[in-house]
Amino acid sequence: MENNKKIVIAIDGFSSCGKSTFAKAIAARLGYIFIDTGAMYRAVTLYALEQGAIRDGEVDAEAVVTLLPEINISFSFNAERGASDIYVNGELAEGRIRTIEVSNCVSKVSSIREVREKLVAMQQQMGQKRGVVMDGRDIGTVVFPDAELKIFMTADAQVRAERRYAELTAKGDKVTMEEILENVISRDKADMERAISPLRQAEDAVVLDNSYMSVDEQMAWFMERYEEIVKC
Ligand code: DC
Repeated sequence: MENNKKIVIAIDGFSSCGKSTFAKAIAARLGYIFIDTGAMYRAVTLYALEQGAIRDGEVDAEAVVTLLPEINISFSFNAERGASDIYVNGELAEGRIRTIEVSNCVSKVSSIREVREKLVAMQQQMGQKRGVVMDGRDIGTVVFPDAELKIFMTADAQVRAERRYAELTAKGDKVTMEEILENVISRDKADMERAISPLRQAEDAVVLDNSYMSVDEQMAWFMERYEEIVKC
């Protein structure tokens, strides 16, 4: 169902709980723009890895900050995927930002104040005209505290690790279930404990635990809330 009133839908929550899949489905249903803010933090991490600002898993925060002015992030809609692909300095980065190497360093990179300032400003600009579904960790608390609909997503850590494992092995990545589970747990901890914009549920967010819900069930759950808001 479409409605003329365009709103901002903020989806925050733990890693690998299907935020992007859910956000993408909502955007397609409503004709909204979907913005995956995690992809932006991953893109900065990828660039920092390529430029040597991260070595042997050690993030040199000062070096990352120095690189920031030369990182140009853009999105271009890919009709086949039904979502936007991310580009770093004009080069397609979509596939390269989802490796375990990037996943292992992205929490540290995303805890750097200057990185957050740059990306939050970009995100606010992208959602200025409303009509966006944005997923991340701080959308309902920092990026769009005035979002009309805030959803906080969560799912059991084991279920999330199984999903991520299936995704990566389907792509041919050689990973073990143990390292994925460890990465999921350590990222949850890092995301919740960082000093700047930690992951937390906004007071006015509604919780969606999708451990045992299908995408269709999640969509039905969402539409009920959405319709209540737009009819006001
Ligand atoms: O959603 P994701 O797993 O692709 O996000 C990658 C990392 O980026 C995640 O570990 C935390 C960080 N992130 C963030 O700090 N703030 C956001 N709005 C989105 C992601």
